[in-house]
Amino acid sequence: MAKIAEWNKQFRIGVDSIDDAHQKLFSIVRKLIHLSEDENNGQWACAEGIKYFKSYAIEHFTDEEAYMQSIGYKGYEMHKRLHDDMRYKTLPALEKDLLESNYSQESIQHFLGICLGWLTAHIMIEDRAITGKISNKWKKDNAGKNMSALEDALTDTLEEIFRLQIEIVSEHYSGENFGNSIINRLTYHSKDGKYVQLFFDFEESLVLQVVSSMLGMHLKKMDKLVINAVRELSQQIADQVAIHLHLPSQYQLESNHVMTADQFQQEFSTKYFDYNLLFNTGTGYFAFCIQLE
Ligand code: FEO
Repeated sequence: MAKIAEWNKQFRIGVDSIDDAHQKLFSIVRKLIHLSEDENNGQWACAEGIKYFKSYAIEHFTDEEAYMQSIGYKGYEMHKRLHDDMRYKTLPALEKDLLESNYSQESIQHFLGICLGWLTAHIMIEDRAITGKISNKWKKDNAGKNMSALEDALTDTLEEIFRLQIEIVSEHYSGENFGNSIINRLTYHSKDGKYVQLFFDFEESLVLQVVSSMLGMHLKKMDKLVINAVRELSQQIADQVAIHLHLPSQYQLESNHVMTADQFQQEFSTKYFDYNLLFNTGTGYFAFCIQLE
């Protein structure tokens, strides 16, 4: 992970104060990765480093927003929403995960994986778009009534199926690596030729616990049995969410299959997602994304 956290001049947006802040954020993450890899450093050093990262990132968002306003950047509103999601949802949720687990290795990996993935994608695309080096990816989002209804439907569904309380971590999940996981895709089509794709990304610890409790046995590894259970669970979640949202059943399931992390990343880099939610279930992270065509 430390190698991916290297600063790269491709990240430059061409505004010195912002580039310096980005470089500093990468250097804080890099130090945190080294700290987390050294068992002698203990939780105190990680805790201090994480607090520092959070306060520096939030200060940077404020400075960058002031810059965007000063140049009359057209994408300001959407860009601020991405910052706000990180400020008010993702960072507090990751911090809560760290505190509640007493800085467990898993929670530190969640924090580092998500922050590093977010920083890299956000700087490369959204921040570089500020100075016109690239086109921004998030033109709009579905924040608001629809998003809240979907979050509520998923919260109820996961509680009913898994008996787990879920908490939102992000409404703009972009495939950040939160740990080993299994990804499943369901493709539906309607009679008039429209497609809906649902993506389920379950952290392995979550899947193993859920399937173990369903089968009444202690499963430790991802084998064929667990993978088949994931495909089944994905379909159950989709059906329940549709019931909660009172969706008409005009869509037919066309395929249900597991995909690799690279294939999932490819989707993020080439296609637009309409909903991108990331949750903490308390026993592992779970991402749920929707593409409407
Ligand atoms: Fe440099 Fe939009 O954060």
